[in-house]
Amino acid sequence: MGRPKDGELAFPADYKSWPKFATGVQKAEAKQVRDLYLNTTGATAKQGQPFPYGTVMVMKLYKATMDGETFMTGPDGKLVKGDLAKVFVMGKGEGWGQDVPDNLKNGAWVYSAFGPDGKPLAEDFTKCRSCHLPLAQKDFVARYDEYFASRGPM
Ligand code: HEC
Repeated sequence: MGRPKDGELAFPADYKSWPKFATGVQKAEAKQVRDLYLNTTGATAKQGQPFPYGTVMVMKLYKATMDGETFMTGPDGKLVKGDLAKVFVMGKGEGWGQDVPDNLKNGAWVYSAFGPDGKPLAEDFTKCRSCHLPLAQKDFVARYDEYFASRGPM
């Protein structure tokens, strides 16, 4: 497939069978609840190291269920997942992600976004890059530490 650019990653159709490493992430400020997945190539990473080429991460963004302007909460006090809004994907490959300005390079990661139906969305990918950029020490992965904590010792 050559080197995909932002917005050109294939929709990872089988991601629901991948390990979920964070679930029900509470994002009241975005009125969302999020679940995070990592593919099996990514799961070979060693803590303290970057993820290998071939890694794909998926984040499902659900709308939080609202009652008017009020958040609904479950018996656990947490936000309740409503409809799936978007699916965000980051994937890594050798030589990927080099076609952007230096101050937006996120290593070899490339970003894409999809609707609930799996169709690509034209997001502003510079925003993805700008917000993940300060996470360079964690291979640009916001939930890097949570991932390794969820996996336990290997
Ligand atoms: C305002 C900052 C911000 C922007 C903009 C942003 N992200 Fe993230 N991203 C995060 C944070 C924080 C997390 C961790 C989960 C959480 O707390 O919601 C995350 C998590 C992720 C993950 C799961 C892996 C990880 O890093 O933990 C993926 C995949 C992802 N984002 C893709 C994208 C894509 C694609 C875009 C653009 C369409 C994007 N992000 C835009 C902050 C951002």
